[in-house]
Amino acid sequence: MAAYGSPPFSHLLLAILIPILLLTATADANEERKVYIVYMGHQTSSSSSTEAEHLNLLKQVLEGCAPCDSLVYSYTKSFNALAAKLLTKEMEKLAGMKGVVSVFPSKILHPRTTRSWDFLGFPATVNRNPPLESDVIVGMIDTGIWPESESFNDQGLGPPPRKWKGDCINLKCNNKIIGARYYNSLNDTSQEESPRDFNGHGTHTASTVAGKSVQGASLYGLAGGTARGGVPSARLAVYKVCWSFGCAEQDILAAFDDAIADGVDIISISIGYPSAFDYFLDAMAIGSFHAMKKGVLTSASGGNSGPYHGTVGNVAPWMLVSAASSTDRHIIDKLVTGDQRCVVGASVNTFATEKESYPFVYFGDGSFPPADCTQLDEKLVKGKIVLCGYIDDGTGAYLAGAKGAVMLNDAFLDTSFSFPLPAIAISYSNGEKLMQYINKTNNPVANIHKSEAVFDPKAPVVGSFSSRGPNTITADILKPDISAPGIDILAAWSKLGKVSGSPNDTRSVEYNIISGTSMACPHTSGAAAYVKSFHPSWSPAAIMSALMTTAKPMNPSLHPDAELAYGAGQLNPVKAVDPGLVFDAADTDYVQMLCDEGYNKSMIRIITGDDRCCSSLGRRTARDLNYPSMALHVASNESFAGNFTRSVTNVGDACSIYRVKIKADGRLKVVVNPKTLVFTKPDEKQGFVVSVSGGPMATNSTASASIVWLDGKHSVRSAMVVYTDFTS
Ligand SMILES: *[C@@H]1O[C@H](CO)[C@@H](O)[C@H](O)[C@H]1NC(C)=O
Ligand SMILES: *[C@@H]1O[C@H](CO)[C@@H](O)[C@H](O)[C@H]1NC(C)=O
Ligand SMILES: *[C@@H]1O[C@H](CO)[C@@H](O)[C@H](O)[C@H]1NC(C)=O
Ligand SMILES: *[C@@H]1O[C@H](CO)[C@@H](O)[C@H](O)[C@H]1NC(C)=O
Ligand SMILES: *[C@@H]1O[C@H](CO)[C@@H](O)[C@H](O)[C@H]1NC(C)=O
Ligand SMILES: *[C@@H]1O[C@H](CO)[C@@H](O)[C@H](O)[C@H]1NC(C)=O
Ligand SMILES: *[C@@H]1O[C@H](CO)[C@@H](O)[C@H](O)[C@H]1NC(C)=O
Repeated sequence: MAAYGSPPFSHLLLAILIPILLLTATADANEERKVYIVYMGHQTSSSSSTEAEHLNLLKQVLEGCAPCDSLVYSYTKSFNALAAKLLTKEMEKLAGMKGVVSVFPSKILHPRTTRSWDFLGFPATVNRNPPLESDVIVGMIDTGIWPESESFNDQGLGPPPRKWKGDCINLKCNNKIIGARYYNSLNDTSQEESPRDFNGHGTHTASTVAGKSVQGASLYGLAGGTARGGVPSARLAVYKVCWSFGCAEQDILAAFDDAIADGVDIISISIGYPSAFDYFLDAMAIGSFHAMKKGVLTSASGGNSGPYHGTVGNVAPWMLVSAASSTDRHIIDKLVTGDQRCVVGASVNTFATEKESYPFVYFGDGSFPPADCTQLDEKLVKGKIVLCGYIDDGTGAYLAGAKGAVMLNDAFLDTSFSFPLPAIAISYSNGEKLMQYINKTNNPVANIHKSEAVFDPKAPVVGSFSSRGPNTITADILKPDISAPGIDILAAWSKLGKVSGSPNDTRSVEYNIISGTSMACPHTSGAAAYVKSFHPSWSPAAIMSALMTTAKPMNPSLHPDAELAYGAGQLNPVKAVDPGLVFDAADTDYVQMLCDEGYNKSMIRIITGDDRCCSSLGRRTARDLNYPSMALHVASNESFAGNFTRSVTNVGDACSIYRVKIKADGRLKVVVNPKTLVFTKPDEKQGFVVSVSGGPMATNSTASASIVWLDGKHSVRSAMVVYTDFTS
């Protein structure tokens, strides 16, 4: 998406159209070679000999093309795979060759601050662990970076941690940005060959994770204050995979391969596809599995395809996935008409309020809603404010010389978007009243004010654009996992990036306000880095558990989808440092879950890169994976029962006694056995079983519960959701 953070309109369309065009192209005599990702068996030999094997393999299938021209990447560090440009028949031949596990066409993905940290109860003065925090390296897989931003000033930071093995290619690094690589396999020539951010998205996400504290940051005076990342002393390693068209899967996989080998501690990736793909068809799931195996947690965005069910796009259980919610600072805007009516709407309007009002017009056949503003006649619009029947990025009104645009929209009014001209988004019902005003008035006029930040007492509420569960790949693993601020977020920007979604926007800024699960993800990544700075040896699953079990429950009355919207609840970094107990898991546990869910050996081999076998442990399901939350998908109109087996590891006081407290929707009967867990030493594990049952629930239902372990000091909460099918 162009301004990847902003969910709606043209970006969303692009996100859906581009992949379809790419996937449906059919073969013919003049067939062009397409990029395929080829998964090989176990990584056995050294990097250089693996690459030679890859070239040798290609030599045996290519017709009229040198292996070097076909090979896009040889992934040789963390996993054994290659990406190559192939004709359909070459691809088919390759798929049948010895050592080749599977071949898949590569997809194009899309990327989808700072009061927000204070809102999370994570002030600038929070207790920190300085020497260890500056040892934490967060890998950002995104649109690159604007290194000159004040947020990346390295003042006070020493040289990179000794474990660091990364590099800086075509970009000057410092002690804040310690690594920078780029991957441009599709040869986008509209941006320079470097990790430099031409968009803004990657700069925004990186500064949200680890930007230093910058006073007086704002967007034209809007949302002013101190901009800071979650872990201001941590280091950034930048992997640019997104270009003007989006982010190619083969590049994403290459970035994971390098980031793991370079020595990052956390990977933050605000990128995704508009829907979920099965793990063995998804480069992000595969890359993040290898990261997890090496002790690196991947934090990803859930997607901007809400509010519809089943739209969450990154769903692997070894990945921590964020939904986007509001903070108590909301950006609003106002329109005032000639008869002094005032309509409040949503937009990030940086343009100063004009002293005078302008003629207010609409187009179309007179019926409501009026025509949209994509095709406007300059002669009729110039110097006027136009009422647009549908929301778009404002390009049409701007290029036609309008003084302002009023965008009608009911779906995304909880989020404020930017436009290249003074513009405001309002509801259809308000739009109809404005159309009546224009109809009945001799000289209808209007004035769009500059936006202002207001206090929002309802926060946190998950954005309507934020993708919802259920998980369409593994029904009994809850996704998204957690909610974090992703609405109206101020953070650093690329001076080459567009402020709004319009390609014709000419403003250039150092800080920008955007929204999306892309903005939520780096808050979660920053919190994960914060936990890591206190517990460097914790596994990815333990960090994920600490963040999820300490999340603040969200208000179900504001969220009809409950956990399917917000997961475990709102991120609470301070509590996550001392969770008491964690639900730990290792790569073997995830492999066991894949087996339990019926994945066969060849599918598992694509994900794990090795020939692992599962032990046969009887009738098990994904509910036996030691996951910090619990989800149960049940048939509509039928009684149900299900068990979750869990085990917790003591990371609190050596001797402690935890008692369970259950809170459940009246439709659920929840029993936990045993009800008390006694620990006598650190790292001791104790198991328990949660049984849930209930009578028939109708289609479109969710019922929630929470299972909380209390020792008088810690509160270890597992969110549970039972849900039926949803029909649209
Ligand atoms: C990329 O495209 C440019 C211009 O079309 C061409 O000159 C260059 O050789 C290409 N590079 C690669 C690596 O394909
Ligand atoms: C505006 O006027 C047109 C015709 O002049 C009429 O068809 C339409 O219903 C009116 N719309 C509103 C919202 O008043
Ligand atoms: C607006 O942007 C588009 C896309 O970059 C470009 O093709 C067009 O020339 C621009 N129009 C103007 C008037 O700048
Ligand atoms: C595994 O499942 C896939 C997809 O259903 C199938 O194509 C493949 O043949 C299976 N492989 C084995 C070894 O059973
Ligand atoms: C469940 O019951 C309702 C009401 O009796 C009915 O409309 C619906 O079709 C049933 N759904 C299923 C999946 O059986
Ligand atoms: C759940 O576990 C209990 C024992 O802990 C067992 O009695 C029951 O049959 C199990 N239920 C299901 C649905 O597996
Ligand atoms: C489920 O919700 C959808 C969307 O709100 C609605 O269209 C559908 O009728 C509902 N189905 C049932 C069985 O209630």
